[in-house]
Amino acid sequence: MLGVCGGIAAYKSAELVRLLKKRGIEVRVVMTESAKQFVTPLTFQALSGNPVHSRLLDADEENAMGHINLARWADAVVIAPATANMIAKLSCGLADDLLSTLSLAAECPIYLAPAMNQAMWRKAVTRENIARLQSHGVHLIGPEAGDQACGETGLGRMAEAETICAALTESTSDKPLLNKKVLISAGPTREALDPVRYISNRSSGKMGYAIANAAKKAGALVTLISGPVNLQPPGDIEIVNVESAEQMYDAIVPRAQDFDIYIGAAAVADYRPADVRAQKIKKQGEESVIKLQRNPDIVASVAALEHKPFVVGFAAETDDLENYAKNKMLSKNLDMIAANWVGGKQGGFDSDLNALKVFWRHGQKDLAMTDKRHLAEQLIRLIAARLNEKNTA
Ligand code: PMT
Repeated sequence: MLGVCGGIAAYKSAELVRLLKKRGIEVRVVMTESAKQFVTPLTFQALSGNPVHSRLLDADEENAMGHINLARWADAVVIAPATANMIAKLSCGLADDLLSTLSLAAECPIYLAPAMNQAMWRKAVTRENIARLQSHGVHLIGPEAGDQACGETGLGRMAEAETICAALTESTSDKPLLNKKVLISAGPTREALDPVRYISNRSSGKMGYAIANAAKKAGALVTLISGPVNLQPPGDIEIVNVESAEQMYDAIVPRAQDFDIYIGAAAVADYRPADVRAQKIKKQGEESVIKLQRNPDIVASVAALEHKPFVVGFAAETDDLENYAKNKMLSKNLDMIAANWVGGKQGGFDSDLNALKVFWRHGQKDLAMTDKRHLAEQLIRLIAARLNEKNTA
């Protein structure tokens, strides 16, 4: 059941119907009155091969298929575009038109592909509505960041039809990592100089924690090895807290061969102070020199194991992203690498948003700038597909 609300992105939903039909999925379309201002019902009728529904308590339409029957008929409801108004209505349980009524009556999974101006998406009330709907089990696809029809730039653009179609078909078909054991590293490491000081980096752990959540949602048994972060650990997963790169190495490498997948999202310090002082270092002179020594490379060590899991590394770069990432994948013998720009205005370290360029031996995929939760879900689907391909090869 595709619900179309009144937004400029409604035109993309016509393509979504075509893609779903191509995958053999039966589609019925419900349009709000304002959606009809953007695309005609005839377009959706022609593409779906079914009459389009839009009026609640209309004798003719109710005869054809009443709103409760429509809700019962659906295996999944996807609302694309989901406007701020519809999201607000659903979050309050309002049922004042056909789409909101059948969404309230639906007992199948509900997916929202939000589309709105970036300021509307960022508004506290919209965030609260979204959080409330998610806590009730509603799934979110997007939104994505970029240029908007209103001339502004930011997060709020509806996900592309291909992305919605992939998210729907993959998440409704099954849990792509069902019972797979997934080991994930997240956050920064701290390398002690003395009892009160350390060297570290700006990683917040948001990316790694989002991946842990997405893997769990995909049916995996997740173990998260976390550097020091200020995040609530995802529920129902094993978590091991560490501080330094050496502790992270000890927590990961000896157990890695018991896992199907290792994902190294942690920002592990490449070097640590060679000499950790037992007492606080005192001020002396105008300059001070710290000698550093190399830390062990965790992801490369996992990839060198005799019974290695499927190994996914990350590459955080400020320049020449693609080349550095591909070289890291080859030199560390990784199955896949997810490369992100860091140090810029958007994405990377300590941001809610990120974008990834994902490479594997014979392919690549760009995952557009979006919130880390949604990005992690896309990455997990890619990993599941590659693992599947590798296992069946
Ligand atoms: O935590 P957030 O604020 O959400 O930010 C997310 C992130 C930017 C930290 C994340 O997306 C990311 O890029 N993580 C990897 C950061 C990093 O250390 O990149 P790198 O290019 O220096 O390392 C390449 C790979 O080697 C990484 O998988 C890293 O985990 C691994 N590595 C590095 C050094 C080392 N000693 N051992 C390792 O395993």
